[in-house]
Amino acid sequence: MPARIAELLPTHSPALFDAAVARAAALLQAGEVVALPTETVYGLAANALDPRAVQRIYEAKGRPRHNPLIVHVAGGAMARSCTSLWPESAEALSRAFWPGPLTLVLPRSATMPDEVTAGGTTVGIRWPSHPFMQAVIRACGFPLAAPSANRANEISPTTAEHVLASLGDRIPLVVDGGAAQVGIESTVLDLTTKPVRVLRPGMIHEESLLAALASSASGGETVSESAGGEPEANLETTGGAGVLRSPGQLPRHYAPRARILVLSWRNEADLLAQLAAAGVDPTLAGVHILSHHAIPLGLGATRVCVIPHDAEAYARALYAEWHRCDALAARWIVMEALPELATWKGIADRVRRAATPDSPHRVS
Ligand code: TXA
Ligand code: MG
Repeated sequence: MPARIAELLPTHSPALFDAAVARAAALLQAGEVVALPTETVYGLAANALDPRAVQRIYEAKGRPRHNPLIVHVAGGAMARSCTSLWPESAEALSRAFWPGPLTLVLPRSATMPDEVTAGGTTVGIRWPSHPFMQAVIRACGFPLAAPSANRANEISPTTAEHVLASLGDRIPLVVDGGAAQVGIESTVLDLTTKPVRVLRPGMIHEESLLAALASSASGGETVSESAGGEPEANLETTGGAGVLRSPGQLPRHYAPRARILVLSWRNEADLLAQLAAAGVDPTLAGVHILSHHAIPLGLGATRVCVIPHDAEAYARALYAEWHRCDALAARWIVMEALPELATWKGIADRVRRAATPDSPHRVS
């Protein structure tokens, strides 16, 4: 294993927090990339206004250059400075959900380098709620470009240990801000189209977005001028077959190394029958079951994990469970199917992508 070069700084006392902010800000001002906690997943941050620093993010991650980065801000004025247009819908959504796990795609300002937007005309902006991330952005005085702090095509990190395992030999600093409180990546909403579109579902779900958009539309300014006066409080989700407006949203983007099988079972006998039909022998090691509702007992060598049957708690735990399965060299992850509810949609999206058969990250 390559040598670790990253320094790991804790933040659990006011003095440690302040020292870590100062160290992170100094490195960022010097054009370095550093891994920082956010409430969704850990981010790999660099000065969004410095093209050379942003290039370092792509190099550390091994990320394709056509995939644009999210710009993290601390405050409405900084958000507007990254855009050339701030519509009423952006105002309403940012009031409702920022700081928090929502990314708004808007027309970019001239200050945004091509390295951030991947040469496109739009920029994704998010004001994160994690106090450490906010403190670093304020200390720097510039916005931070930050994708998830993992190598390309790996599962996003929700702890500092996950980041160290993935990027510890490539970056100078990882700040430990605790386990991520949301646990999956932000909802990405494109406000440059009519209707506006969810490019990546997350824990802020469509119904909440629609409610906030409707309140702005009723303010009168965002009613679309298209035929029939259709209000802008209309929302589309880009599905697997939809147009790939968000290049990161390839079907196989998130995947643990094991094969994933999504099943729903009535009882243990039913589960055993389904596993047999799929050619999975639960008496052998390497089979891990992630359940939240119908919890099986006594399945040979199989490891059974129970995640709470609650969307928020499930999202918080999911990636850590996948990381654990990878660390234990799991061959199969059997996931109990998720409720088909708006609140679970972001989670279901990650599971669907991880279960997509052509992932290169599989043991065969
Ligand atoms: O929660 C999050 O969003 C985390 C934390 C660190 O903030 N960040 C994150 O970044 O997940 P990343 O780079 O792993 O995913 C960003 C997603 C990608 O799917 C990318 O294609 C999309 O956002 N995106 C970024 N800018 C965009 C733009 N201008 N237009 C369309 N999609 C964009
Ligand atoms: Mg990512």
